[in-house]
Amino acid sequence: MTAPPKTRMFRAEAATAEAARCLAAGGLVAFPTETVYGLGADATNARAVARLYEAKGRPTFNPLIAHVVHRAAAQAIAQFNADALLLAGAFWPGPLTLVLPRREGCPVAELAVAGLNSIALRVPSHPVAQSLLAAFAKPVVAPSANRSGHVSPTTAAHVRADLDGRIDLIVDGGATPVGLESTIVACLGEPALLRPGGLPREAIERVLQRPLAVAPASAAVGHRPLAPGRLTSHYAPHALLRLDAQSVVPGEALLAFGPVLAAGASHAVRMFNLSERGDLVEAAANLFSHLRALDGAGIKIIAVMPIPHQGLGEAINDRLIRAAARR
Ligand code: TXA
Ligand code: MG
Repeated sequence: MTAPPKTRMFRAEAATAEAARCLAAGGLVAFPTETVYGLGADATNARAVARLYEAKGRPTFNPLIAHVVHRAAAQAIAQFNADALLLAGAFWPGPLTLVLPRREGCPVAELAVAGLNSIALRVPSHPVAQSLLAAFAKPVVAPSANRSGHVSPTTAAHVRADLDGRIDLIVDGGATPVGLESTIVACLGEPALLRPGGLPREAIERVLQRPLAVAPASAAVGHRPLAPGRLTSHYAPHALLRLDAQSVVPGEALLAFGPVLAAGASHAVRMFNLSERGDLVEAAANLFSHLRALDGAGIKIIAVMPIPHQGLGEAINDRLIRAAARR
């Protein structure tokens, strides 16, 4: 006897409104795109994004692709140079992701972009993805809907096999037509191919009328997972981080975790708590925004309370160690 599935599954036509409601409530929704199934979350909801990393079992917070319904929605979030406009005009909607500078006031959660100043954007062409994005009317971050280390899913059944019980909803739109993840091109300067994918390089070069630059090794993504900590544009605090702090030294700021504060916390020049309840999902959702908030106004040292290593704690500690080791 097999156990009944825990995650609900709808046929596409019936599912759009339900899926949009679920996203608005902070839920995780797997949906088909023309490339692979994505695991969607409200891009503006850091807590939903943290749940997404947890559901995938990702050891690190890779930056995610934000999906939007059309180019105008993308232009509200990021800056398009002439090449980006050309590529978006030629290939959106479709299997092309553009990495672009984020606009000031970009509503996407810091956690979803892993603290980078750039953002990966995509307008999928799949009719189910299109109707979901239109109904939700906000950006949806969606990595491939598989457990970390597994291949990307191209059917709803693949998604269920990997993620049943870990996500809220699967929209079944049949097999995905492309079956390969999107091609990722950075338009931060000279356009560069970051990940080969569903849109061939030649098609892109024809539109640009020149060869695509080779991405610098530090920006490699795709099968070799991106290590955002090695990117020069990665979040780089000005303040020093003192990790596993049991007490606060006068003059330090405090990044706290849990209900019991470090000794001397009341003397901290500034304090934020990642999660007063000691909840790692909440802590992950708060990590980058709290660090940014503390890292200013002349603060020299941020004492960081110990974070447990299990669950999302591993990734939180990975990012804290990178940030602490920057000088
Ligand atoms: O076809 C696809 O792109 C699918 C569907 C669901 O849209 N999504 C997908 O997402 O493949 P994911 O998370 O598996 O891969 C996203 C890639 C990662 O390699 C990530 O490092 C890179 O995009 N990425 C995201 N934001 C970036 C940024 N700002 N700079 C450089 N790379 C970025
Ligand atoms: Mg993937």
